Amino acid sequence: MGCNRNCGLITGAVIGAVLAVFGGILVPVGDMLIEKTVKKEAVLEEGTTAFKNWVKIDTDVYRQFWIFDVQNPEEVEVHSSKIKVKQRGPYTYRVRYLAKENITYDPETHTVSFLQPNGAIFEPSLSVGTEDDTFTILNLAVAAVPHLYPNSFIQGIFNSLIKKSKSSMFQNRTLKELLWGYTDPFLNLVPYPVTTTVGVFYPYHNTADGVYKVFNGKDDISKVAIIDTYKGKKSFYAVFGAEINLKGIPVYRFVLPSRIFASPLQNPDNHCFCTEKLLSKNCTLYGVLDISKCKEGKPVYISLPHFLHASPEIAEPVEGLSPNEEEHSTYLDVEPVTGFTLQFAKRLQINILVKPARRIE
Ligand SMILES: *[C@@H]1O[C@H](CO)[C@@H](O)[C@H](O)[C@H]1NC(C)=O
Ligand SMILES: *[C@@H]1O[C@H](CO)[C@@H](O)[C@H](O)[C@H]1NC(C)=O
Ligand SMILES: *[C@@H]1O[C@H](CO)[C@@H](O)[C@H](O)[C@H]1NC(C)=O
Repeated sequence: MGCNRNCGLITGAVIGAVLAVFGGILVPVGDMLIEKTVKKEAVLEEGTTAFKNWVKIDTDVYRQFWIFDVQNPEEVEVHSSKIKVKQRGPYTYRVRYLAKENITYDPETHTVSFLQPNGAIFEPSLSVGTEDDTFTILNLAVAAVPHLYPNSFIQGIFNSLIKKSKSSMFQNRTLKELLWGYTDPFLNLVPYPVTTTVGVFYPYHNTADGVYKVFNGKDDISKVAIIDTYKGKKSFYAVFGAEINLKGIPVYRFVLPSRIFASPLQNPDNHCFCTEKLLSKNCTLYGVLDISKCKEGKPVYISLPHFLHASPEIAEPVEGLSPNEEEHSTYLDVEPVTGFTLQFAKRLQINILVKPARRIE
């Protein structure tokens, strides 16, 4: 790979955002009796209003994607120039329309566990184009090789397969292929069994997300539906940001604390996310989180979109980014009496780390 000044570069590939505005407008009433009823009906337990709404959300939930289309692939490959990107989107899918499955209660901890089956339906009216729109993006399989196989002998073999399949550092793919999967021509030539399908969210369809474990609110209504664990691990949490007014309703806005994306120097809890001592300048860079452990060792990093709140060095090799708080932050607006989430925006950028490799041309 043509990789001199771009070594260690992290390119943003996809921005995903979940946007939802929940219908039910609630009038906050101070009256004790009403508050008591609300508390009873808001508990996640068979028979309550909240439960019916929670098992199968009857509000539309959308996931939107913005893709960074690379404008100068040849220049980057040959001259290792800065990557010029153009953001294209939104492309919108309806998600979370399938009912939760395997719902089990634990009366001792007041929690409910469940699986969320995955499904996504393209929504043309909320998109700038179709699922067949084409983008020039990083070749995910080629980019992952140096990271997965540091051995230079194996890299040499893979290099010949990459050439034979006419693959290079960049590729053209449709939105559908990029998100949900395509057969990679280079991996198809690998002479031993490997998964040849590649995609940012592959596998997704016919899979389920979870197991999630949430509080059902029976002991403390303020905790209702707050995720306790995800796949047995403690989840990210949000902290109180400000009291704001949402269409006349006072709500509490919760935001992701900046220490989630902090460098291990600032937040020692993040030390296990720093696996690249050299590229991360001894773990002092911040604003990106290495999640390769959750992706079978593939060099996947998450950040806020456009590297919002990240070290300036990280965005330096990329041209065309414009981070701003309003469009790119993650938040959750909660009505304080019922604990219902009235509006949320979860915004993340998925990045692939490109490492220098002596034996990959
Ligand atoms: C969910 O329930 C089905 C049938 O009840 C069972 O076969 C499956 O193993 C369960 N899945 C998990 C992850 O518990
Ligand atoms: C991608 O498409 C562009 C424009 O159609 C073309 O010039 C370029 O060669 C293609 N790149 C690859 C890697 O196929
Ligand atoms: C990282 O730390 C090592 C050992 O403490 C030191 O030798 C090296 O110079 C440091 N590298 C950078 C980029 O700061």
